[in-house]
Amino acid sequence: MTHQLTGRNAIVTGATGGMGRAITRQLVSVGANVTASDLSDEGADELVASCAEGPGAINFQPANVSQADEVAALVAAATTSFGNLHCAVNAAAIEFETVPLAQCTDEDFDRMMAVNTRGVFLSMKHEILSMLEAGTGGSIVNIASTNSFRPQHNQPAYTASKHAVLGLTRSAAIDYAKTGIRVNAICPGAIDTPMLRKAMERRGRDVEDVAGRLSYFGRFGDAHEIAEAALWLCSDASSFTTGHALAVDGGMLAG
Ligand SMILES: NC(=O)c1ccc[n+]([C@@H]2O[C@H](COP(=O)([O-])OP(=O)(O)OC[C@H]3O[C@@H](n4cnc5c(N)ncnc54)[C@H](O)[C@@H]3O)[C@@H](O)[C@H]2O)c1
Repeated sequence: MTHQLTGRNAIVTGATGGMGRAITRQLVSVGANVTASDLSDEGADELVASCAEGPGAINFQPANVSQADEVAALVAAATTSFGNLHCAVNAAAIEFETVPLAQCTDEDFDRMMAVNTRGVFLSMKHEILSMLEAGTGGSIVNIASTNSFRPQHNQPAYTASKHAVLGLTRSAAIDYAKTGIRVNAICPGAIDTPMLRKAMERRGRDVEDVAGRLSYFGRFGDAHEIAEAALWLCSDASSFTTGHALAVDGGMLAG
């Protein structure tokens, strides 16, 4: 099923990462004008070039999602470029843990929360303020995780940060439903992206072991399978859906 988003204006954070890139490309391919953002310009030229055929348009604006002024500037850039903001996919996050809670340093905990939780909070805040100003509603999609429901070993701060993303999603969903702003989360399982590959390398794990344990299909998910879910949640096809956590996880949470 194709969800047309012709003329809709979108923001994607974490846009040069594995999922963000796929989501950006897919949004542009169904006609959305996307303000793509990541921490730095690295990879931006290639992303923009890969979207050249449209039919939507793309601009790139770097922003650190943990910094309020940079997030405000990102949202302002999106409306300056394309007009009223209609949807946003907040995918930026970090993951670097290999130890349980008592070994987690205070600094690592704060760093994880600053990007994964404060980053989503700030993104949602400025996106919602912009949508409220326009008065035409909108759709926000936060990329959470299966860790939002079920922890993996040795990921205390990451797990906490992703539980918090679900809390922010649900809280905003009920507070803004009457304004026409919908807020949902996607909970990916093991998706083949740089984040997953680096995590496996840190833990000395191979594909067969991880894919076998974390997916009932016995394979990793592909970033385009997350992008399809994001497209549905951004589009009017999901008009009665808000506050939902959509698992795209090869059945992991079902078992
Ligand atoms: N890959 C998986 O298996 C998996 C599973 C569950 C959830 N997730 C979540 O999916 C989302 C996308 O992850 P991915 O797998 O594509 O990872 P990725 O590492 O490929 O992409 C994440 C992107 O976020 C950016 N980023 C990091 N810190 C930032 C900051 N302070 N400001 C702005 N951008 C920043 C990175 O530069 C990177 O491009 C994340 O929220 C992640 O937690 C991933």
